[in-house]
Amino acid sequence: MNMSVASKPGLEGIMAGETAICDIDEIHGRLRYRGYAIEDLVVHASFEEVAYLLLHGELPSAMALQSWKGELEHAAGLPVPVRRYLETVPSSAHLMDILRTSVSFLGMTDPEANDSSHAANVRKAVKLLARIPAILGRTLHPHDPAFAVGFRGSLAADLLHILTGSHDLEDARELDISLMLYAEHEFNASTFAARVTASTLADLYGAVTAAIAALKGPLHGGANEAVANMFQAIGRPENAPEWVLSRLAHKQRIMGFGHRVLKHEDPRTLIAKNRAQALSAQKQNFRWYEMAESIEQIMRKETGMFPNLDFYTAVVYLLLRIPVETFTPIFVASRVAGWCAHIIEQQDRNRLIRPRAAYVGPPPRPYVPLEFRTP
Ligand SMILES: CC(C)(COP(=O)(O)OP(=O)(O)OC[C@H]1O[C@@H](n2cnc3c(N)ncnc32)[C@H](O)[C@@H]1OP(=O)(O)O)[C@@H](O)C(=O)NCCC(=O)NCCS
Repeated sequence: MNMSVASKPGLEGIMAGETAICDIDEIHGRLRYRGYAIEDLVVHASFEEVAYLLLHGELPSAMALQSWKGELEHAAGLPVPVRRYLETVPSSAHLMDILRTSVSFLGMTDPEANDSSHAANVRKAVKLLARIPAILGRTLHPHDPAFAVGFRGSLAADLLHILTGSHDLEDARELDISLMLYAEHEFNASTFAARVTASTLADLYGAVTAAIAALKGPLHGGANEAVANMFQAIGRPENAPEWVLSRLAHKQRIMGFGHRVLKHEDPRTLIAKNRAQALSAQKQNFRWYEMAESIEQIMRKETGMFPNLDFYTAVVYLLLRIPVETFTPIFVASRVAGWCAHIIEQQDRNRLIRPRAAYVGPPPRPYVPLEFRTP
């Protein structure tokens, strides 16, 4: 059937549904989670509060936050089959693949995996929030009992310890801010994958598994690792102009630039850039920040493009001495809050997501019997 409505490659600019979770105002460069400006959240809140806000719709009271942390602590232990599975993972495996399969495995161990009621979905979201750092801890430190302990009051502090061995509170706050920036971004590719999956009434674990698979790609979450690899390949700030110009001359993309929705300043990038600058001063290490600024200037002059969140986040993570291959898994640990909020929103008022495609193949033609087909 011919479709009268024109299709848009990549669904660009298409309103594919409604959400009360996140508001991207691309004209004025604003981002709000459930009405709260991202600038206010990163100054006053913690990732635990933001995750609660996304999942419950309101910021927690002091008492609710305490009990929320208690729920995370209670949920953090990994079921034995998942621990056993982690012991069998090949050492060459990509951490994103390990996380994807672990989340799928967690679904097989949860008796309420197939209960898509609001309350059960929130309980499963709590388990995932607490267990993703636990999976990383077990994977990266399989023989160290110190990393077998679950949530200890701050997901950012736990992650920093797992990824770097550090207990530094200021560094943990930097990671906490970055988790808040990454937590939610409306109908991005991974969240949309989660919502499409959830709309079939498949379970929350399946929907998050689909989201992790989508996040891995370098056009999406994988960009933060690609940016750090680019910085390391460039080596020194003074090498940046030549490196970037030669890439652009060969029509290659510079990772950490461009965004499907935000074509001007991304408010998250401004926050990440300020944090990267402050952290560079604190660590007395300006190598990555100077390189990033140089690349930003060249890109603005040559292409008019702005850096996205992944660009300056890579500077922050390099300064925190976080291993590059764990950058995108950190994104998972944070975005799982947004994914679960969207899955719950979808299943609370579900309608199957099933768009149409404009057919562009051959016109109708007669069937050709096997003996008459040319090679
Ligand atoms: C994010 C991204 C996929 C958005 O893509 P999009 O909305 O589909 O934008 P388009 O692919 O239509 O790009 C428009 C033009 O800008 C160019 N462009 C887009 N991103 C670019 C980049 N990072 N570096 C150089 N040029 C870029 C494209 O080549 C295209 O040029 P053309 O019109 O001459 O062909 C894209 O900007 C990108 O690949 N960025 C790098 C990866 C990244 O940082 N991802 C994280 C996103 S938060």
